[in-house]
Amino acid sequence: MSSRGPRVSKEQVLDVLSAIKDPDLGRDVVSLGMIKDLVIDQAGRVSFTFELTTPACPVRDRFQTLARQLVSDMPGVTAVDLKMTANVRPAFNGHREPAIPGVKHVIAVGSGKGGVGKSTVAINLAASLQLSGARVGLLDADIYGPSVPGMLGVTDQPQVRDQRLIPLEAYGMKLISIGLLAGADKAMVWRGPLVSRAIEQMLGDVFWGELDYLVVDLPPGTGDASLTLAQAVPLTGIAIVCTPQESALKIALKALQMFRGLNVTPLGLIENMSWFVCDDCGKEHFIFDHGRAERAAQRLGVPYLGAIPLEPTIREEADNGAPVVVSRPDSTGAQALRKIAAALAARVSVQSFRQLPVINVR
Ligand SMILES: Nc1ncnc2c1ncn2[C@@H]1O[C@H](COP(=O)(O)OP(=O)(O)OP(=O)(O)O)[C@@H](O)[C@H]1O
Ligand SMILES: [Mg+2]
Repeated sequence: MSSRGPRVSKEQVLDVLSAIKDPDLGRDVVSLGMIKDLVIDQAGRVSFTFELTTPACPVRDRFQTLARQLVSDMPGVTAVDLKMTANVRPAFNGHREPAIPGVKHVIAVGSGKGGVGKSTVAINLAASLQLSGARVGLLDADIYGPSVPGMLGVTDQPQVRDQRLIPLEAYGMKLISIGLLAGADKAMVWRGPLVSRAIEQMLGDVFWGELDYLVVDLPPGTGDASLTLAQAVPLTGIAIVCTPQESALKIALKALQMFRGLNVTPLGLIENMSWFVCDDCGKEHFIFDHGRAERAAQRLGVPYLGAIPLEPTIREEADNGAPVVVSRPDSTGAQALRKIAAALAARVSVQSFRQLPVINVR
């Protein structure tokens, strides 16, 4: 029972930890409520839980190292027991009830043009969030062609219970596809009211259960499905996928402005098919120009979430029914997609902490 250093207090530990700032939320992690269950025993052992706002947190490792280091360095601390967890906070949208009970965030993935890789990006972002430990659902709202089930190797029809649909499961994610329900091989003429009704049903009449993120793959452009979705539920926001060509980017930016006009928060711009790595020489070829989407995002004041290479593996894996982030996690494309998913999750966290706008009443 001899020489023990000075006793450390909880206040001192919190004070030291408050030096850690969350780069996205712009505040210290203590005032954000991320430090939980702080206990200091007689022997100077400090244990606490670091609760992130998303399991896909891009700075998770940095936070962990810093927190451990800062507390270990305190005089009187003999050991640090640090647990990292995550708790996705629901969207702040001014409503008390979530739009879909149990679903914390609805994130749309859209594009201006078709064929830019929107579905590929949507399934891989969803799978990345799931791999990080989040509970994820995927809604294929593309009425023109249900490509998502094929990309995930799913062919079944969902069952119905109590007049509600039970989602299918793929790679740990819940999945519903509008096109698939309508009959994948039938050419359907979708008229406005039919689209609206279908979208509303897919959101409300499905047993989604508890989800951190529901990712919605929209049809390209700004048609009925996009409009309905933006109006039927409070979306946490939309991520727009574009390709680097000037013309494609212009259309993507138009779509972004339209969603802004509908009060949908832009979560960011993603550039797909950004560069190509030559199998022979290993050199990176920027076929269309470089950095155009990033510059456009800056100009518009929307986050730039990152770029994805044009990589045969991405297509091959999708054709075989697997997201590349699951089946080829070490590939350049998969790593780019994981990083973008982390950046997206960080932008979603920012939305949860957004405060009500100050309204000046004169
Ligand atoms: N980064 C990439 N590298 C290689 N192939 C890709 C990449 N992104 C998408 N693809 C391939 O390009 C094709 C079109 O992609 P996808 O179906 O995801 O586009 P989309 O924008 O959803 O199209 P649509 O408008 O038809 O819905 C697919 O064959 C897909 O595998
Ligand atoms: Mg698609």
